[in-house]
Amino acid sequence: MTLFSDKPNLRNCWHVVASDIEVTNGVLGRRLLGENLVLYKDSSASVIVAPDRCPHREAPLSAGTVTDGKLVCCYHGWSFGAAGKCVSIPSADAAFPIPKNSDLPCYQARIRYGLVWVCLGEPATDIPEIAQDSDAKFRRINNPVDIWKVSATRMIDNFLDIAHFPWVHAGTFGSSQRTLVQKIDLHDLSDGFHGYEYAVVADNPPAAELSSGQSGTEVNRLMTTGFCLPFAVRSTIKWDTGLEHILLLVTTPVDDVTSYFTFVVWRNDDFSVSSEDTVHFDRMIGAEDKVMLEKIPGVLPFEHGALANTQADKPSTAWRLKFVQFLDGD
Ligand code: FES
Ligand SMILES: [Fe+2]
Repeated sequence: MTLFSDKPNLRNCWHVVASDIEVTNGVLGRRLLGENLVLYKDSSASVIVAPDRCPHREAPLSAGTVTDGKLVCCYHGWSFGAAGKCVSIPSADAAFPIPKNSDLPCYQARIRYGLVWVCLGEPATDIPEIAQDSDAKFRRINNPVDIWKVSATRMIDNFLDIAHFPWVHAGTFGSSQRTLVQKIDLHDLSDGFHGYEYAVVADNPPAAELSSGQSGTEVNRLMTTGFCLPFAVRSTIKWDTGLEHILLLVTTPVDDVTSYFTFVVWRNDDFSVSSEDTVHFDRMIGAEDKVMLEKIPGVLPFEHGALANTQADKPSTAWRLKFVQFLDGD
């Protein structure tokens, strides 16, 4: 029995399952909401996503190969091209018509922000909007899509939480921050996100300097953090210098307790530091969250009163309420 990942409404959302570059490099097997998928690109570089099941004898298509934009099954060599259409059956005479049920029942897929977004049903929500993606002053930096042994529900709860910074992130930016969290005022932010603004004093060790763009042991960060249902959080950092760093944190349920995680960064710097160096500190921070969250089993409880909350938990509580309403909505 699953607690949330089999809910029909989640099938009508866009979910990140891979980075664009991974699919460009060949066939991929992924799992979304408990369903195994195969991903490949056809000859026009459109990404094709379908159940990871060959229509012939149910071999996993992700064990096959991609040649000239065609996915070739490793069992009997049937191949599939644009829109998942079966285009070749090596064992059959060319005069024999290809069976009608040989095509792959494809799902909708889009490439956006260097990521592959998949919808298993009819899209009822949009891919989150990041205005800076079309602003020439900003560059976009992608990061790998990792797998975390953590429920997506716990990841969103964490991404919206600032009270853990001085504890979990003491090794990177958090030890200078006051433990007391000021009153949080939630409201609608730009581009459909819902969240809050806050200011923090962050540690600025040498490993952080290429990210913050400045030296000195501490830096002031003006931040906004907000969510977009179901599983996206945007966190923006603005330093005193005017440098802005926008993080899109995305998690995708593989199932209830396992998730894909990736983050995308947009920055208005002078582009002189390599992308890799620019996000190195963010990756260190993400690794700290992963270590923490992988200690917590199961799904974040949804029932009222199941968790003790303080006002610092207001953002994640707001997400949880809206998420549950969304799951159960018509
Ligand atoms: S199972 Fe795929 S070609 Fe036979
Ligand atoms: Fe964190």
